[in-house]
Amino acid sequence: MGAIERGEYAPAPAQPSERLREQLTDPSTTRWAGSLDGVVVGSAEVRPAGEPKTAFARIYVLPDMRGNGVGRSLLTEVVRDQQAAGMEILATTVLADTPGARFALDLGAAIGDELVINVLDFETLDRAALRRVVDTDHIGYRLVHWSGRTPDALVDSYALAKRAIADAPNNHLPTGAVVKWDRGLVRQSERERADRGAELWVTAAVVGSSTVAAFTAVEVGRSAVDVGQEDTVVVGEHRRLGLATWVKAAMALRLADERPSVRRLSSTTAIANTGMRTVNARTGFRELTRRLLITANIADLAKRLHPPLGAA
Ligand SMILES: CC(C)(COP(=O)(O)OP(=O)(O)OC[C@H]1O[C@@H](n2cnc3c(N)ncnc32)[C@H](O)[C@@H]1OP(=O)(O)O)[C@@H](O)C(=O)NCCC(=O)NCCS
Repeated sequence: MGAIERGEYAPAPAQPSERLREQLTDPSTTRWAGSLDGVVVGSAEVRPAGEPKTAFARIYVLPDMRGNGVGRSLLTEVVRDQQAAGMEILATTVLADTPGARFALDLGAAIGDELVINVLDFETLDRAALRRVVDTDHIGYRLVHWSGRTPDALVDSYALAKRAIADAPNNHLPTGAVVKWDRGLVRQSERERADRGAELWVTAAVVGSSTVAAFTAVEVGRSAVDVGQEDTVVVGEHRRLGLATWVKAAMALRLADERPSVRRLSSTTAIANTGMRTVNARTGFRELTRRLLITANIADLAKRLHPPLGAA
């Protein structure tokens, strides 16, 4: 008989990375182990996805142990936990045409974007090419860098710029919700990140005294070996001036100079986002893999996992 246990357990990853180790100690992630006859054969983890009322989950069951209901039991726990936490949408990514994709689609999940995962390798970083991009004149604009707390003078404009992420072509916001970023939310997310032992590094293109026209952000954790790309946004009227390429190139050099421990920067982009993919290619990112983003409504999942008594 299977058993599900909530706790600290995390399976040893096949390819442990510093980033993964950090995630394993991230207090915003909840984990479960699923066992069969006392032997752990699967695991689940869930954390806030960064979008309103949306959680991001991963569930693994050892290939030989599939078909025993362990995945379903793990998902049941995730759904119960996230419903109690007030979440509405559960998201995950899968490789197309895999057992994981079929498991999710059979439970009524919907396919959102096709995503491309890009990486920038710091061991082969073309510093000279990046330097040429950074040294290009962008008349009227200047580069401003910060880490952790956004400067008071820029925080309102930065919050407005963050709202423009809603222009990204995507098909993955089933709630239709767009975060109305403001100073309070920016400060709150800074505190939450600091509580996790991480820091957001931002490089912005600023015009006039305090208008953020573009920015790129990366999360730098304790290890700073594998760094994750967060938003890159250019405010509408400042697009197609090379600003995204400029701030991303500047961020790559900044990481290389200030954190020599960094080996790679990973970024996930919708295949449909031609602009962002071109900017990534121009700053030296290479495509690592593609995955499907899938989402499900948590209340619907709960009904499918626990049909009401008497239902067929
Ligand atoms: C994607 C985005 C960041 C690009 O910013 P940008 O400053 O306009 O990009 P750049 O000027 O550096 O563009 C460099 C090249 O990318 C390509 N490109 C940029 N935007 C493009 C678009 N909308 N369509 C097609 N190609 C585009 C072009 O080849 C461009 O070079 P060119 O203008 O010389 O032809 C911006 O459109 C944006 O903020 N979009 C909304 C938010 C978003 O999608 N963020 C990424 C989420 S992962």
